[in-house]
Amino acid sequence: MDRKTVVITGASDGIGAAAARALVSRGHRVILVGRSPATAAALAAELGMPFHTADYARLDDVVRLARQLRAYDRVDVLANNAGAVMKQRLITVDGFEQTLQVNFLAPFLLTNLLADRLCACSATVLQTSSIAAVLYGGRFDLQDLNGEKRFDPLHAYGNTKLENVLFTRELVRRFGGRGLHAAAFEPGVVRSNFASEAHPFLRLAYHSPLKYLFTVSPERSARRLVRLAEGVPGRDFEDGAAYRFRRPFRVTLRDPEGKTAALLWDRCAELLSSRLN
Ligand SMILES: NC(=O)c1ccc[n+]([C@@H]2O[C@H](COP(=O)([O-])OP(=O)(O)OC[C@H]3O[C@@H](n4cnc5c(N)ncnc54)[C@H](OP(=O)(O)O)[C@@H]3O)[C@@H](O)[C@H]2O)c1
Repeated sequence: MDRKTVVITGASDGIGAAAARALVSRGHRVILVGRSPATAAALAAELGMPFHTADYARLDDVVRLARQLRAYDRVDVLANNAGAVMKQRLITVDGFEQTLQVNFLAPFLLTNLLADRLCACSATVLQTSSIAAVLYGGRFDLQDLNGEKRFDPLHAYGNTKLENVLFTRELVRRFGGRGLHAAAFEPGVVRSNFASEAHPFLRLAYHSPLKYLFTVSPERSARRLVRLAEGVPGRDFEDGAAYRFRRPFRVTLRDPEGKTAALLWDRCAELLSSRLN
């Protein structure tokens, strides 16, 4: 197995940290990205790997992070793994609903800012999606991505995880000809720090002894990320697909003309350019 350079966001905890440990133990170089400087620095020291920090609720941080990542000689895998479910509708300093910005706009921006470099390396872009894309991602309104007309935290979360799947497909459509590969995956129900700031119902499910009834460990879940990161596109995974275990899964979306992924991309580019220019 060739040694790969893998950037993992959300690497300071949970699935990302477990995947980083596994990839380093398998001989890869992992560039860790976390929000909290203390946890990211501690893991970087443990693994002897470089780290960067960015709060995805601040787009300026994402732009700075892209600049820092461009300084590396290569990136073979970008794992867009950072994400969270919120308790209520919060607006970031950039004016976007926080679930949308952290789970989708920020990785969308980071990937686009690195796109030429990723294409030059024939890199694979991975998204950590969720079964919530199927369970709660149905109320998808391109004109109301910010949840101004209608908002509830679970549907907002599910929609961003559906957006991760659509983004994966669209990345391959737009950049596949230039060598870029992409896949999304559903990590299972994982006993990580996930949902620690969420609605009490979710907190109870994830952060009480009940969790042992239905969750898997981050280490076990991380195997899915590791498999795709080490995988050969076309042999080990289908380009642009979203995986549940080893099989692609389908999201339920009314999309008769098959244009939603492209429209989502254009809408997000428009939203971001109005903020960043
Ligand atoms: N756990 C599950 O059951 C489950 C199920 C489906 C999908 N997922 C997805 O799996 C991914 C990883 O989650 P996890 O279970 O490992 O949760 P976790 O233990 O809470 O880890 C989340 C990671 O994302 C980072 N993060 C959170 N908010 C951020 C922000 N505003 N800016 C930058 N980084 C931020 C965290 O950084 P800090 O530690 O520095 O805060 C942490 O490194 C997420 O995308 C989540 O949606 C999880």
